[in-house]
Amino acid sequence: MLLPSLYSLQAEKLLPDGMRILGTARSDLDRDAFVQLVADSIHERIPANERDDVALRGLIERLDFFSASADNVVSMQGLSGKIASLRNGDVLYHMSTAPKFYGPACQALAAHGATGPGTRVMLEKPIGKDLASAIAINDAVAAAFDEERIFRTDHYLGKEGVQNLIALRFGNSLFEPLWSARHIEQVQITVGETVGVEGRGDYYDESGALRDMLQNHLLQLLCLVAMEPPARFDPTAVRNEKIKVLRSLRAIDRSNAGTESVIGQYTAGASEGKVVPGYAEELGRTSRTETFVALRAHVDNWRWSGVPFYLRTGKRLPSRSTEIYLQFRKVPYSIFGGPAATDMQPNGLLIRLQPEERIELDLMSKTPGLDRAGLRLSQVALDLDLHEEFASARKRIAYERLYLDAIEGNGTLFVRRDETEAAWQWVDAIADGWHDIGMAPKPYPAGTWGPSATVSLVDRLGHSWRE
Ligand code: BG6
Repeated sequence: MLLPSLYSLQAEKLLPDGMRILGTARSDLDRDAFVQLVADSIHERIPANERDDVALRGLIERLDFFSASADNVVSMQGLSGKIASLRNGDVLYHMSTAPKFYGPACQALAAHGATGPGTRVMLEKPIGKDLASAIAINDAVAAAFDEERIFRTDHYLGKEGVQNLIALRFGNSLFEPLWSARHIEQVQITVGETVGVEGRGDYYDESGALRDMLQNHLLQLLCLVAMEPPARFDPTAVRNEKIKVLRSLRAIDRSNAGTESVIGQYTAGASEGKVVPGYAEELGRTSRTETFVALRAHVDNWRWSGVPFYLRTGKRLPSRSTEIYLQFRKVPYSIFGGPAATDMQPNGLLIRLQPEERIELDLMSKTPGLDRAGLRLSQVALDLDLHEEFASARKRIAYERLYLDAIEGNGTLFVRRDETEAAWQWVDAIADGWHDIGMAPKPYPAGTWGPSATVSLVDRLGHSWRE
């Protein structure tokens, strides 16, 4: 996603003039080999009809490469010298590597004078694997960069659909009066993926769905749905509201993990019409790592008291879909007798972020007819297809936005230290709870919506998943 994003920004002339891009890795590449790697990646990801040789050449002219390793002082000194020789303005470091290297790499750069004013660092998720490791990484990075210069990426925040959720909530007066426990019965946040672990088994098996997806992407979505209106769309105001939501999450721990959560691991099955192996077969060994998690969360504050927030995510589910569904409360009293009374469904608002963006409002409507046996009602949807509405707009990669914001130093769509740590604290209690009560993932065949217990998780309160 990174190189194609830089290419697209180059093609639209959005990268600052004179900006250089210096790749670094332990691999012993030279500039030519790096350029080849970049060109190959762009050929692979950008469709031929959207590729433009002038733009590719423009990007290539900016490139350079220097091989270095965070634990090799001489190489880091060389890298810092290289940066100094190329530098003609601010510097943005983007660390897209294992999080355990963030601290050492930042400190090595600091030791060679490469982290002063005008430098910023972008860090990929996950920041650690639990609260303790996140604190250690954050401390180590903080020794080299002030918080305002640290840009923790959650690429979901760079997605157009996610920002549109903010626009929908705070650009319309229609929803706010309804946006609370008074009118909302339940909220569902689903991030379904059809892919398996895609050759990332070693990372994923250490992590699982809870740490890989829920700690970051799903909790960020939950924050944007549940937060109070920020005073401004700026880094401090938005993040101050998100952290309050994270701190209001009711704990799920050993006392209730068994009833408030479900975990699963996919077995062989069918995905997108193809027979696919189970997780253990892909990994080559048995494992207790969950590839699916569903939770019933509660935001314990005035606005949301009593409203369940159902969160679920998993690999090898039936469809790739990211959606948020808010179900409104039933009408207080039905004036219709006869069959219409049973036709009645609660209103719902569906905000679909992926694969296509759409907003759907479920309403009750009269079913056309003369109603001799009594009036009938049907559920109909007000359906806004944003893809069609903005058909001329190019579908962007999240990193295009994130890179530009980080280059300009705008942290609104990045995660602040306290958010990451609050999210880990909540997630750690869940993981410890599973461990303490010996909860193992239940098998689910690839191509299904997780173990059957997922249905009971919502059914217990009379709810059902929106499929
Ligand atoms: C990443 C996870 O953060 O997000 C992956 O590590 C996951 O496991 C990916 O597949 C999903 O992102 P997207 O943009 O495809 O929804």
